[in-house]
Amino acid sequence: MAIEEHGASAGNFTTGQTTSTETEQFENTLRPKTFDDYIGQADVKRNLKVFVQAAKKREETLEHTVFYGPPGLGKTTLSMILAHEMNSQLRITSGPALEKPGDLAAILTNLKEGEFLFIDEIHRLRMPVEEILYSAMEDFAIDLVVGKGPSARTMRLDIPKFTLIGATTRFSMLAGPLRDRFGHVEKLRFYEAPEIQEILTRSAKILDIEIETSAAEKLSYCARRTPRIANRLLRRMRDFAEIQHEGVITDTVVEQGLKSLSIDEKGLDYSDQDYLKNLCEKFGGGPVGLSTMAAAMGEEENTIEEVIEPFLIMEGFIQKTPRGRIVTDLAWSHLGLKSPVTQNQNGGQTIML
Ligand code: ADE
Repeated sequence: MAIEEHGASAGNFTTGQTTSTETEQFENTLRPKTFDDYIGQADVKRNLKVFVQAAKKREETLEHTVFYGPPGLGKTTLSMILAHEMNSQLRITSGPALEKPGDLAAILTNLKEGEFLFIDEIHRLRMPVEEILYSAMEDFAIDLVVGKGPSARTMRLDIPKFTLIGATTRFSMLAGPLRDRFGHVEKLRFYEAPEIQEILTRSAKILDIEIETSAAEKLSYCARRTPRIANRLLRRMRDFAEIQHEGVITDTVVEQGLKSLSIDEKGLDYSDQDYLKNLCEKFGGGPVGLSTMAAAMGEEENTIEEVIEPFLIMEGFIQKTPRGRIVTDLAWSHLGLKSPVTQNQNGGQTIML
């Protein structure tokens, strides 16, 4: 399977990963290529395998699919696997890269029958671009406006049958007509620690890194339940092991390494800790609105909502309420601080005097 990436200009496919960063290259080396190599997301994988088999049996293209969930959980990887399992190619672009309808039209008309188009951050598509997608997804045709002024007319152009894969961290931001055109909607979840441990072990083997089982287990609790973070931590631990120790990743390497990176025993990194400290120390535990949190942290609202908060909610450190974000008792005790309020028996809050 070949993977082609689309840059900012229309039709500008750059073959392979020539423009990718070092981190992306590293990620690509570790990406599983088949369902059998992919660890975790068991329910999603089970369904996708059936859909692939069914499409192949009927000699059809796979229905359009959308993956949603926090970053780093495997949306791109699963899309690559789908294209591979369908013996096809994946072309990659993103919502913000498609500036004009013509950018998307150029890509769609260059697709070959059965190919996959991956649009990352599909919730960030501009409306005129998104509208091109509607007929492309439904009828495999696009309506082009030819000419200008009173003599302008629309011309319908057939395009090859293809599979659109959308990836988003914000499923609720997709417009109804776009959402309805996806045959498969798959939510990716945070991973369990044993799955992260398995991913770490697999990655270490591929990269020829020696890691003790107990060290991999320890590390698995500190990766925010996210493969991308697990693999990044593995790379950092390799650095510590090679420079400050004997080369092998041991419990000691992990303990000292995590401390150097300011990652605590629950896997909270600097941003998570900063978020909780702000919420507790500046705002008495909340409720606080998103924009206030963003200003207090000097962080973008999107990053807070899409990257930091999902994990803190998942781990039970914060809750989102209609009045804003509040911390839980778990957060107070994790920070070693005393909560000014306790939950009363009716679930309401009681101020401790
Ligand atoms: N590397 C990153 N994500 C992975 C996964 N889900 N399974 C195996 N290796 C991975």
